[in-house]
Formats: sequence, C-alpha cells, structure tokens
Amino acid sequence: MFRKFSVLALAAALALPALAPAAANEAAVKARQSQFTLFAFNLGVLAGMAQGQREYDAATAQTAADNLYHLTRQRQDFMWPEGSDNASIEGTRALPAIWDDLEGFANRYGALQDGIEALQGAAGTDLASLQGALGGAAGACQACHQQFRASE
Ligand code: HEC
Repeated sequence: MFRKFSVLALAAALALPALAPAAANEAAVKARQSQFTLFAFNLGVLAGMAQGQREYDAATAQTAADNLYHLTRQRQDFMWPEGSDNASIEGTRALPAIWDDLEGFANRYGALQDGIEALQGAAGTDLASLQGALGGAAGACQACHQQFRASE
C-alpha cells in the first residue's frame, strides 16, 4: 500500500505525461537518434586513434570502448514503435523494411553487440589491437545502415 502510494505520488510530483501516439513516436525517434549520436561520438574517438588523427591512449580507448559496450546493451524494443518509419512520419530515416523484417533488424543489432564486445576486449591493449577490432564493429554499423536506414 505504501509502495503503491509512493509511486503514484512520485508520478504526480513529476507530472509525468501519458503520451499520445504521435508524441510517443516522436519521443522514440528522438531517443534512438540520441543513442546513435552517442554511438558515433564514442566510435569517433577510437577511429581517430586508429587512423592516427589522435594519439593512441590506452585509458581513453578503453573508456570509449566501455561506453560503447554499455550503450549497446540497451534494449531496443521501446525505441522502435510501429508507425515510426519514414513513410509514416517526418524526422526519421528508419525504413519501413525494419518492421517487415524485425528479426533481421535484431540480428544486425546482435552483430553490433558482438563487434563491440570484441572491441572492448582489444581497445585498451595497444594500437594494433584497437585497429584490428575496429573494422568489425564499424562494419556492423554500416551493414545495418545499408539495409535499414534511408540515405540523406
Ligand atoms: C540495427 C541497425 C543499426 C545499427 C547496428 C546501427 N545503426 Fe545507426 N541507425 C540505424 C537507423 C535505422 C537509423 C535511423 C534512425 C532514425 O532516424 O529514426 C540510424 C541512425 C544513425 C545516426 C543518425 C542519428 C540522427 O541524429 O539522426 C548515426 C550517427 C548512426 N546511426 C550511427 C551509428 C553507429 C556509429 C553505429 C555503430 C556503432 C550504428 N549507427 C549502428 C540503424 C542502425
């Protein structure tokens, strides 16, 4: 009883809105695009080192790879509601193909999780190890974009 009361009180205190469907889609698109921005930011740190634009530093490389590891453990379910494809709403590049092939999409995400896990194990070792593991992770980003993201 107390617990139930606290949850209700908390919801009231925060004035949590119950989102209408259109707003819910918009929030989901914003969430997933923000997530991808974080992927790209952390991957960019590692790519800069791998390509010699930035000095290799083991601790920084490990931090960026750890960030990517945790970011890619996030479950995707809520961020891809039906009706949030680029044929239905503005402001997204998500192709309807995602919802025609949810399993294929999930597999692409699984491949990214694997690639990032390998990267996490290698990034802080030395530059050559980082370079060796980066291609697999970045390739998993690209493969999904080719299949499921509209070009700009
Ligand atoms: C499972 C498929 C998938 C994987 C894996 C994936 N992406 Fe994406 N990405 C998408 C889709 C779909 C969109 C379009 C999202 C939208 O506009 O609603 C997108 C959008 C983006 C965007 C644009 C975000 C914006 O603000 O519009 C960036 C940047 C990006 N991805 C980077 C990455 C990076 C870096 C990786 C790998 C670490 C990655 N993505 C892995 C599917 C994927």
